[in-house]
Amino acid sequence: MIKNICCIGAGYVGGPTMAVIAKKCPHIKVTVVDLNQDRIDAWNNEDLKKLPIYEPGLDEVVQEARGRNLFFSTEVDKAIEEAEMIFISVNTPTKTYGVGKGMAADLKYIELCARQIARVAKEDKIVVEKSTLPVRTAQAIKNILDHTGNGVNFQILSNPEFLAEGTAIEDLFEPDRVLIGGDTTPEGEKAIQQLVDVYANWVAKDNILTTNVWSSELSKLTANAFLAQRVSSINAMSELCEKTGADVNEVAKAIGMDSRIGPKFLKASVGFGGSCFQKDILNLVYIAKTYGLNEVADYWEQVIVMNDHQKRRFAKNIISTLYNTVSGKKIAFLGWAFKKDTNDTRESAAIYVADDLISEQAIISIFDPKVGKEQILLDLNYLETRSGEENNKYVQIESDPYKVAKDSHAIAVLTEWDEFKSYDWQKIYDSMLKPAFVFDGRNLLDKKELEKIGFIYQTIGS
Ligand code: UDX
Ligand code: ADP
Repeated sequence: MIKNICCIGAGYVGGPTMAVIAKKCPHIKVTVVDLNQDRIDAWNNEDLKKLPIYEPGLDEVVQEARGRNLFFSTEVDKAIEEAEMIFISVNTPTKTYGVGKGMAADLKYIELCARQIARVAKEDKIVVEKSTLPVRTAQAIKNILDHTGNGVNFQILSNPEFLAEGTAIEDLFEPDRVLIGGDTTPEGEKAIQQLVDVYANWVAKDNILTTNVWSSELSKLTANAFLAQRVSSINAMSELCEKTGADVNEVAKAIGMDSRIGPKFLKASVGFGGSCFQKDILNLVYIAKTYGLNEVADYWEQVIVMNDHQKRRFAKNIISTLYNTVSGKKIAFLGWAFKKDTNDTRESAAIYVADDLISEQAIISIFDPKVGKEQILLDLNYLETRSGEENNKYVQIESDPYKVAKDSHAIAVLTEWDEFKSYDWQKIYDSMLKPAFVFDGRNLLDKKELEKIGFIYQTIGS
C-alpha cells in the first residue's frame, strides 16, 4: 500500500488534488513541491484567505490536512526521494516558439521533471502524469526515465484530471469518474492497482476506470474538446438568434430537455476561456495534422475559430453601439476571471475584449472580486499588442464596483460572479453617463429590472 506521495507542481491542479487526497487518506503522507518559493509560502500561510488559489471549500480542506499529512515545500529532490508515487502536475502551456508554435504543448517543464526524477530516484517509483498532455507523453517520460535513471524501475501512469475550476473540491470529492491508464504488463497492472487503491478510499470502485495509457491520455483531450464544442455550438446559434429574433436561452432550454443532448454546457457567452479548452483542442489539432488527418484537424479547429469570433464580435458590438467610437470613453468591466469562483484568468475572454477596446483608445475600468491589478496588467502585457506603459495608461483597476461604473458610458459583464446580481443597479445607473449601456456577456442580469431603471441592455443571443 502506498504511504508516501509527492506532487511536483503546486498550481490549480496539483494543489487542490493533493489537498483532497490528503484529507481523504490520512494514512498517506502527501508532499506538494514547487520551484516557486512565493507560491509555496502562500500555501503555508497561516491566513487561509491568502492561499495562492481561490477555490470554494479549499481552505477548509487545507486547514484539516496541512501539517497532519499534507506538506508544501520547495525541497523537490527530498520529496522525490522519499515518495513511492510521484504526480507530475506542472504547467504545459502552448508552445510560443519553434515547431508546433501556437499549437503543440510545450513539454519543457515535464521533461525537466522527468530528468530530475531520473537523477534523484534510488528506488522503484510510480510516476503519474496529471498535467494535461498530448497523447504519447507518457512514452516520452518513460524514455527519459529508463535511459537516464539510476537503473531503478519506473511505471508511468496517466491519470487525467477532470476537475473544473470553481467547483474543484466538489469535483474531487465526487468525481463522475477517475481515469487511470497504464501498461498492460503485470508490473503496469500492479501500479494501476496501487493508484486505484488510493482513490478507492473515497471513490466507488465502479467509478474508477482503468485503460491503456493512450486511451487515458486521448480521453482527456476528447472530453475537453466535446465540452468546448458545445459552448462554440451554442455561441454560433447565439449570433443567428440575434439576427432572427429567436432567444438563445429559450433555444438552449428547448434542446437541453432532449435527454440525448442534456442541459449542461449550453450557456451562450462571450466565449470560453481557461487553461484547458483551447490548449487541448490545439493539441488535438496538432496531433491530427502530425498523422496527416487534415479533415479531422480542420473539424476541431473550427471550435476555436468560433470562439475567437465570439470574443471579437462582443467588442465590435460595443464599439458600433456606442456610435462607432469608444475613443476616450470609459467602459466599465465587471469580471476578469475566465469564470466565476476562481482567481484564474488564463485565456479569459475579458483579456481579448479589453485588448480590442484599448486598440480603439477606450479607457477600461475593471473590477473583479478575486483578481487584482498586477494580474490584469500581466495578462494584457502578455498579448504584446502594445507596451506595458501604454496598457497602464488605458487601464484603471478598482476594488469597488461602484467606483468602476462612475462616469462610464457602458458596463460590460465578462464573468458570471453571483454578487453582480445583487448590486444596487439604480445607484450604478445614477453615476453613469447617459444613455447608459450594459453589455451582458454572460446573460447574467435581469433584463426587465435593468430596462425599468433606464439602461439600454444587450445580451448574447437575443
Ligand atoms: C475544464 C473541464 O470542464 C474540466 O473537466 C477539465 O478538467 C479542465 O477544463 P475549466 O476550464 O476549469 O474546466 O472550466 P469549465 O467549467 O469547463 O469552463 C470553461 C469555459 O467555458 C469558461 O470560460 C466558462 O465560462 C465557459 N462556458 C462553460 C460557457 O461559456 N458556457 C457554458 O455553458 C459552460
Ligand atoms: P495547472 O493549472 O496545470 O496546475 P499552474 O501554472 O497553476 O498549472 O501550476 C503549475 C506549477 O508547476 C507552477 O506553480 C510552477 O511553478 C510549477 N513547476 C513547473 N515546473 C516545475 C519543476 N520542474 N519543478 C517544480 N515545480 C514546477
